Amino acid sequence: MWPTPISRSTLRSSRLVLEPTCDSHATGLWAAVSASVDELAPWMGWAVEPQRHETLDFATSAARSWGSSLFNFTILCSGEIIGSIGLDHFDDATASSSVGYWLRTDHAGKGLMTEAAALVVGFGFSRLTLHRIWLHAGVANLGSIRVAEKAGFQQEGRLREAARGVHGWHDVYVYGLLERDERLRSA
Ligand SMILES: CC(C)(COP(=O)(O)OP(=O)(O)OC[C@H]1O[C@@H](n2cnc3c(N)ncnc32)[C@H](O)[C@@H]1OP(=O)(O)O)[C@@H](O)C(=O)NCCC(=O)NCCS
Repeated sequence: MWPTPISRSTLRSSRLVLEPTCDSHATGLWAAVSASVDELAPWMGWAVEPQRHETLDFATSAARSWGSSLFNFTILCSGEIIGSIGLDHFDDATASSSVGYWLRTDHAGKGLMTEAAALVVGFGFSRLTLHRIWLHAGVANLGSIRVAEKAGFQQEGRLREAARGVHGWHDVYVYGLLERDERLRSA
């Protein structure tokens, strides 16, 4: 459980609105997942054979888990749901958390996830007073690696076969960002 209550805040940048994930996002999230399976499935086990009810359950459980260990945001652009990003795996002893993200394919390549990552990282360090945020990116997932590095994360190591997607097990790079590191600030 998070040590102090954290209100459900909406985060905003010049192009994006990030709303704490709730039931009303479920249909839009499912539409975004359905339109992006080919790009999500290599990297995310849950996307190999995604089911509508799993996305609905995710939205419900993300809303319920806010403030325990998960802070998940639904990403909207011009009112449309285009993806998801969240802080997870909170560890009180080390004031650390992971960040994970995915975007609807037809919105990729416009710098939107880098913008979303800057917002959520800022939320993690300022509102949650985290010391460290980390992520895993498949060693061949060049888009995710680029997002991490543009946001300021540094590559710290490689884990063997630590993730499984539609093509099987794959190695991941560990990326880390400390509160004191240089990082991209949200626009
Ligand atoms: C990876 C992902 C989040 C990127 O989102 P995005 O909004 O397109 O990211 P951005 O536009 O902010 O930045 C992407 C960067 O990666 C680069 N990139 C994307 N695909 C690439 C590829 N195949 N090879 C090299 N660079 C690539 C882009 O050129 C861009 O870099 P640039 O700004 O220097 O040109 C999105 O494509 C996605 O959801 N993919 C599937 C799920 C996934 O991999 N999630 C992450 C799991 S760790």
